[in-house]
Amino acid sequence: MNLFKAAAIAALAMSASVASAQTVKIGFITSYSGLNGNLGPYMERAVRLYLKQHEKELGGVKVELITRDDTGPNPDKARQLAQELVVRDKVNLLAGVIFTPNAMAMAPIATEAKVPFVIMNAGTAVITTRSPYMVRTSFTLWQSSYPLGQWAAKKYKTGYSLVSDFGPGHDSEEAFTKGFEEGGGKVLGKVRVPLQNPDWAAYMQRVKDAKPDVLKVFIPAGKTATAVMKNFSDLGLDKAGIKLIGPGDITTDEELPNMGDVALGVLTVHHYSAAADRPANKAFVAAWKKEYGAGETPNFVAVGAYDGAALIVEAIKQQRGKLDPDKTMEIFKQWKNPNSPRGPIAIDPETRDIIQPEYLREVRRVGGALANVELETLATALKDPWKELQKKK
Ligand code: PHB
Repeated sequence: MNLFKAAAIAALAMSASVASAQTVKIGFITSYSGLNGNLGPYMERAVRLYLKQHEKELGGVKVELITRDDTGPNPDKARQLAQELVVRDKVNLLAGVIFTPNAMAMAPIATEAKVPFVIMNAGTAVITTRSPYMVRTSFTLWQSSYPLGQWAAKKYKTGYSLVSDFGPGHDSEEAFTKGFEEGGGKVLGKVRVPLQNPDWAAYMQRVKDAKPDVLKVFIPAGKTATAVMKNFSDLGLDKAGIKLIGPGDITTDEELPNMGDVALGVLTVHHYSAAADRPANKAFVAAWKKEYGAGETPNFVAVGAYDGAALIVEAIKQQRGKLDPDKTMEIFKQWKNPNSPRGPIAIDPETRDIIQPEYLREVRRVGGALANVELETLATALKDPWKELQKKK
């Protein structure tokens, strides 16, 4: 081999290794501590599971997940972390985020730096209007609470709304009230409780005194859901004949074992239940248990992140690891999956928000454990109702 040939081969080998060493950096911000700090790991585990399952499709591109703890609903912290990830770590994408105030605080950074941001949980409708570089793979509270109100109006005459006093709570209150009253129901009262450590007994007593047929609650999943169940039962609202309903956040799958029998019969509307018997969900739950242990089960936070990772993998594949922000957003807007664990889903190219089914579910005992059993599909391809209503205005 002459020298020239050897040098050419060496150069080729080098460029090949450079190409295969292409790395996509994801700045992943979620809650590992503070209020509902147990939810962050569901999000991270779901992203890691999807990336592992699809590693071979990435053509040698490496994905680096740079994880950061926003410590719960803490917009200043989230903004600071996002800034650092963009400026210092030069991430190609931002992703994660349980809480609405954090997502809102990060929006200007996504816009100014042109860094696409995949929202994997935060569910206040308005969020995605705050930056053209945002896409959401989770849900909006309007998607669950509006059909919940419509359905409840067919069964109950009077209702009461109790929500955590922040964005998704306000959305749930407004959406439920609209759905319920359009269907002929009457909302007797609405109460907004502090996000952290409310005096549950006092609020539950107020509801009990109003004697509604049905109490609709939204709280930000996690341990707060179990606190609601406990206080609902301790104050005797169930015995007073008040029916507890809500978006699926109040019967979040991972808390069911902590709730006990008081959760039995609670009716909710949501896009995801770990107990759903769709083959794609059975495969997802089985893969989760194989990866993280037989006693572990995914929840709605996990499915939002799992499908979010699918968008990211698609963008990497189509651009061979060299991500252009505008091209990435175009790929996100065209994304769809007829076979997500939650059923057929797509991104609405107009709003960058998820289109998905919504199911009516009831907590039942299945094989000795509590489960959100899907009873009925209330909507098959529901766009965020709030954005649809804004268009009509
Ligand atoms: C939110 O902050 O948007 C949020 C948090 C927890 C939930 C739902 C929405 O269960």
